[in-house]
Amino acid sequence: GSLINPTTLTSYETITGCLIAVNAHGNIDWIIHDVKDSSIQETLLQKGLFDADVTIVPLQEGQFIMPGFVDTHTHAPQVPNTGTGYQSELLDWLENFTFPMEANFQDVDFAKQVYPSIIKKFIASGTTTCCYYGTLHLESNKVLADIVHSLGQRALIGKCNMDRNCPSYYIEPSSSRSISDTQAFISYVRSLAPGPSDNPGNPLIYPVVTPRFAISCTNELLSSLKTLVHLDTRLHIQTHISENLKEVEYTKELYPDCEHYAGVYDSYGLLRNNTILAHAIWLQEKEIDLVKEREVGISHCPTSNFNLRSGIAPIGKYLDRGVKIGLGTDVSGGFSASMLVAMRNASIASTVVALQNNPTNAPIKEGKFTNRQLPLATLLYLATKGGAEVCVLDQQIGSLEPGKSFDALIVDVSNISSTSKWPGDSDVDPALRKISTTTSSVRSSSRAILEGLLEKFVFCGDDRNVFAVFVQGKLIGGTSYA
Ligand code: GUN
Ligand code: FE
Repeated sequence: GSLINPTTLTSYETITGCLIAVNAHGNIDWIIHDVKDSSIQETLLQKGLFDADVTIVPLQEGQFIMPGFVDTHTHAPQVPNTGTGYQSELLDWLENFTFPMEANFQDVDFAKQVYPSIIKKFIASGTTTCCYYGTLHLESNKVLADIVHSLGQRALIGKCNMDRNCPSYYIEPSSSRSISDTQAFISYVRSLAPGPSDNPGNPLIYPVVTPRFAISCTNELLSSLKTLVHLDTRLHIQTHISENLKEVEYTKELYPDCEHYAGVYDSYGLLRNNTILAHAIWLQEKEIDLVKEREVGISHCPTSNFNLRSGIAPIGKYLDRGVKIGLGTDVSGGFSASMLVAMRNASIASTVVALQNNPTNAPIKEGKFTNRQLPLATLLYLATKGGAEVCVLDQQIGSLEPGKSFDALIVDVSNISSTSKWPGDSDVDPALRKISTTTSSVRSSSRAILEGLLEKFVFCGDDRNVFAVFVQGKLIGGTSYA
């Protein structure tokens, strides 16, 4: 079938008649182009494969394949709160809506009851790798890890550290308990996830150290986390930064000796190449320089940033500075678990920035992205390859290439495309029957058709258009999955 594959921040390839060979470990062996239905057998023979050894999955009309989405920031225990509390700003919202919901996960049975449908929702939306915040509770976080593991999603999962400025019913009793529970959780996840038994070097789940944000952590806690991550450089780290102006102000009050918000995390050794910082809306120039220098990734969470009136992150500027950027749904600050919604709001956020600062859409001397609307190619990149870079998993996932894991979606937009006319398709059946035709004159319009399908999917699609979700070669979700 047809493949849409991100290549750079500003480009993606569209390949028709694509044959992707996925081996028994779920890794991609090879990809070849321009294969006709009639020559598949011959191609397999040339590759030394026989019918009996392979299952062929042919794509149907209106379908294409693409890498799965990488959600670089979301909160699994907040999903029940989706669509709640959007008249509040961050600190009030946490106190009145978020902490009360997360506190429910003290009850392990509650976690067992709700987490399966929550994780299935992320999978159904096409997210093949997800960075989850859990709650502060060790046992319920283990349940979360068990469920993600059993459902087959790739994930980073973090137990929240929070030992101050939280309500008495939802706070860790001490920094030492916070650390011992964190260590226990890390060991648990690592014992659970050495990788599929036939491919043990390739774990699907990773623990991630998760100080909730500076406000909710004492100096003692951050000092202990500093030691913990220093001794284990494999460990991912995630936290929130500079989301809301009152939060930034309060952080400065709590850490008067630090030059800025990023400086707080840096002074505790928490900024490094496998750190993910969510939001990063109000960073000063010096903080951007520091983030770049430390090779930290930023998770852009535009839906949440709009809902909680937090602000609009200048993502174009960060991209021009060469900062690694991914997208996050940030449920339940964000009202959707779907990365498609994150992509749409990233587009709108960039457009608002552009309209405010560059209403005539003039070329920008600072770079390609600053004060410009993000193009479709960039949205695709951020939702896949960019997210993989932020998670430092880009050698393995983020695009479909030989040697990488087969983490992929079969997208089916036939139900949103059939009545539409695509640019360049005047000589092509709108039902896309000719999409795999290989003559060069049609191929250029195949590009236009596939671009149109991608744009439709990104801006009008939802779970109903996610036909199949594969992680490490295994079908784990989508409308075709029973
Ligand atoms: N900052 C600290 N905790 C949270 C949270 O749960 N959601 C968001 N959006 N920001 C936070
Ligand atoms: Fe968040």
